Amino acid sequence: MTAIENSKLTVVGAGSVGSSVAYAALIRGSARHVALYDIATAKVDAEVLDLAHGTQFTGSSDIIGGSDVSVAEGSHVVVITAGAKQNPGQSRIELAGVNAGILKTMMPQLLEVAPNAIYVIVTNPCDVLTVLAQEATGLPPERIFASGTVLDTSRLRWQLARRAGVSSSSVHAYIVGEHGDTEFPLWSAATIGTVPILDWETPGQPPMTTEELDDIAVNVRDAAYKVIQGKGATNYAIGLSSARIVEAILHDEHAVLPVSTVLRDYHGIDGVALSVPSIVSASGAVPVPATSFSGKEFDQLRHSADHLRQVVDTLRS
Ligand code: 2OP
Repeated sequence: MTAIENSKLTVVGAGSVGSSVAYAALIRGSARHVALYDIATAKVDAEVLDLAHGTQFTGSSDIIGGSDVSVAEGSHVVVITAGAKQNPGQSRIELAGVNAGILKTMMPQLLEVAPNAIYVIVTNPCDVLTVLAQEATGLPPERIFASGTVLDTSRLRWQLARRAGVSSSSVHAYIVGEHGDTEFPLWSAATIGTVPILDWETPGQPPMTTEELDDIAVNVRDAAYKVIQGKGATNYAIGLSSARIVEAILHDEHAVLPVSTVLRDYHGIDGVALSVPSIVSASGAVPVPATSFSGKEFDQLRHSADHLRQVVDTLRS
């Protein structure tokens, strides 16, 4: 991809996730200038150097960074990954308190140097933190949203593609709701090519069953726990997912992605952030009102919303 001239992405947090976002953005040419910011000077300086040493091979993008927030000056997009990460077996929600505090400190400093940026929150629990950050900053909901279930949707499409024997780009299926334990697939709208998922015929294999789809949904929901158990964190796929979101913004793509925005009277859901198919462009992210849900899917969406609202209310109290 050719980076948009003078486009600037700042990644906040030089841990495994933030460094992977920066790495993915350099390789994909998501932005012309990539900045990595972290308060841990030695760490961020080393990550920037290591990334810079490879830029001969990454096209026109360049990398800068450091532990002074001024490195984020003039960013068009800011991706926030700073904060505590899940330990094996720990839920994303358990990180809410400590990461809400980190975000509360950081946001005013970032807005001072990048007042016009679109903010993408990756730090978990990303849906909860998005509500708190949107309220604290007063930014319009379209300009501060979370990566949400873009990553989970990629996990779903990978699994379905392998089962169906097709490219994942031909799997049109979404995970929506919380980026977490209450997420769920929109099976009612899922197709492979133009074929509804349960009608797909994989040569030499029986049709998929609803039980099999349920198993796939559980595998997707629990995927992060499995990776974290084995390697201590997830980073590559969230790095690539975040770079994809950045590209949709910087290239003004108007791409439909399941990012998480603070919903305003969205099918009766209000004031909570969760992922639904949204149009992502240079203006930010706007949910697609015409997305349809089956009765069961509506119940699952409301359950996800109620769960997230309860967490936000607890943090507010
Ligand atoms: C993931 O789903 C941990 O939220 C991160 O990989």
